[in-house]
Amino acid sequence: MLLQLLSVLWEALSLQVVLVFLVAFLLFADYKKKIRPRDFPPGPMPLPLLGNMLNMDFKKPHFSMQKFAKKYGNIFSLQVGNRRVVVVNGLQLVKETLVHQGENFVDRPVLPLDKEIFTSFGLIFSNGLSWKQQRRFALSTLRNFGLGKRSLEERIQEESRYLTDAIEAENGQPFNPHFQINNAVSNIICSITFGDRFDYYDSRFQMLLHLFDETMYLQATIWSRVGLLYNIFPTLMKHLPGPHNTVFKNWGKLKSFVRGIIEKHKEDWNPSEPRDFIDAYLNEMAKVGDETDKHFHEENLLHSTLDLFFAGTETTSTTLRWALLYTAIYPEIQAKVQAEIDSVIGQSRQPSMDDRDRMPYTNAVVHEVQRISSIVPLNVPRMTTKDTTLAGFHIPKGTIMVPNLTSVLFDKDEWETPNVFNPGHFLENGQFRKREAFLPFSAGKRVCLGEQLARTELFIFFTALIQKFTFQAPKNVTLSCEFRMGVTLSPLPYRICAFSR
Ligand code: HEM
Ligand SMILES: *[C@@H]1O[C@H](CO)[C@@H](O)[C@H](O)[C@H]1NC(C)=O
Ligand SMILES: *[C@@H]1O[C@H](CO)[C@@H](O)[C@H](O)[C@H]1NC(C)=O
Repeated sequence: MLLQLLSVLWEALSLQVVLVFLVAFLLFADYKKKIRPRDFPPGPMPLPLLGNMLNMDFKKPHFSMQKFAKKYGNIFSLQVGNRRVVVVNGLQLVKETLVHQGENFVDRPVLPLDKEIFTSFGLIFSNGLSWKQQRRFALSTLRNFGLGKRSLEERIQEESRYLTDAIEAENGQPFNPHFQINNAVSNIICSITFGDRFDYYDSRFQMLLHLFDETMYLQATIWSRVGLLYNIFPTLMKHLPGPHNTVFKNWGKLKSFVRGIIEKHKEDWNPSEPRDFIDAYLNEMAKVGDETDKHFHEENLLHSTLDLFFAGTETTSTTLRWALLYTAIYPEIQAKVQAEIDSVIGQSRQPSMDDRDRMPYTNAVVHEVQRISSIVPLNVPRMTTKDTTLAGFHIPKGTIMVPNLTSVLFDKDEWETPNVFNPGHFLENGQFRKREAFLPFSAGKRVCLGEQLARTELFIFFTALIQKFTFQAPKNVTLSCEFRMGVTLSPLPYRICAFSR
């Protein structure tokens, strides 16, 4: 009786069961092949759809990562959602990726979330011919508008006067220098791109900077939380509430601000006298004629301008905030910088780039601040342009690459005391010493486009501030180097006292 029942059941089910097993087997085989191609760098075994989400401690992603690096070595793989990611650690491998094999790793991955915000236009998130043309044009235009020339230096000197005046007005009382520094730094990129600076008391611009700041922070939150889901289920997520909607809305406002400025430029544009980046771009657009392979159009203008603003403000301003924090925490280092300023520049004139060669100690301090604060810890992600081999592993086309810059800036084989704030890393017999592992701007074909501008700003702003003030912790306050992760790794908001010298 029982047997009979079983055999009937068997007959009814067998076909389906076999089919289900077959499909499951095929899916699994396919999944294994997709997840881990042959000779792919080692890493934790991912689950379908979720990838390695469950292997990560989301509150402390740093710790999970350190564990992986310990277990698997300098190159390991992760599955994030439906994308394969390879993390590369240490000077040698990071240089191999960015420089020696630069051409194979030059693309940016285009993830749905980034595409929604940044589109694939502009400088940072573009690829191929469009990227090449935008980058070449931006570099030469930055040069035309004063990069590496006296005129830009003078603009930065003038801005540091506004900045020191604003800080002077704090009268030695504890204050948070965040927005004054932000405003000063963004004014430099504004004068290059828009042809104008904004006053520190201009409420509309202040609102914009606050909006920008909030967006930077939220952006990082959604990259780490919503981003994952967004990149797997873009259409679904677009319609769900969450922080990504605020970010989209904020970017919308930033875009319309820049659009307004572009429209204004079109009205009083004089092709024979370009005043700034936007004017020069309008000239380039007018030149295009019928050449179809040129990518100079309004969307690229908008996004290149936004990218310069985005990449040029947050980074330099965060670095300066770290610099003030470290100088206040290490008064003996601050005193040495002041002694060098007093002997080379004095109090009666402003610092200039010519002074830098005669100021090895100050230069070393600026470099050491950049090293230890490692504000773009995992670089901006790259993607392989074709199948390639790295450290003996096979990396297929389309793999997302993460060259870990912190692992270079803290590489134990390169730095004498990687975890200590030590300007001595950049000094030898009292002279400035260049270091190969100093890569805060990354390296290779996609190296930071604003490196020279950033270095000029950092040196002049920092030196002008330390020339005029002594920075100290407020009474009874211990300053901390704890950070928060936004788009850049930045100090927690702090208050500080600036005493006139
Ligand atoms: C301390 C300041 C700065 C740091 C630490 C920094 C760092 C970086 C890093 C790590 C990248 C990614 C490079 C790569 O993919 O390998 C980058 C890209 C970029 N940076 Fe900077 N940056 C700084 C300042 C600036 C400034 C002032 C500008 C404005 C002109 C700027 C514009 C850009 C642009 C446009 C890109 C994208 C380049 C491309 O994809 O081709 N950066 N930066
Ligand atoms: C990057 O390098 C730092 C320093 O070596 C390490 O603590 C961190 O876990 C690394 N991150 C990844 C993603 O490997
Ligand atoms: C600092 O702390 C001391 C002892 O705790 C206290 O007496 C003093 O009033 C504090 N000073 C300020 C400015 O808060």
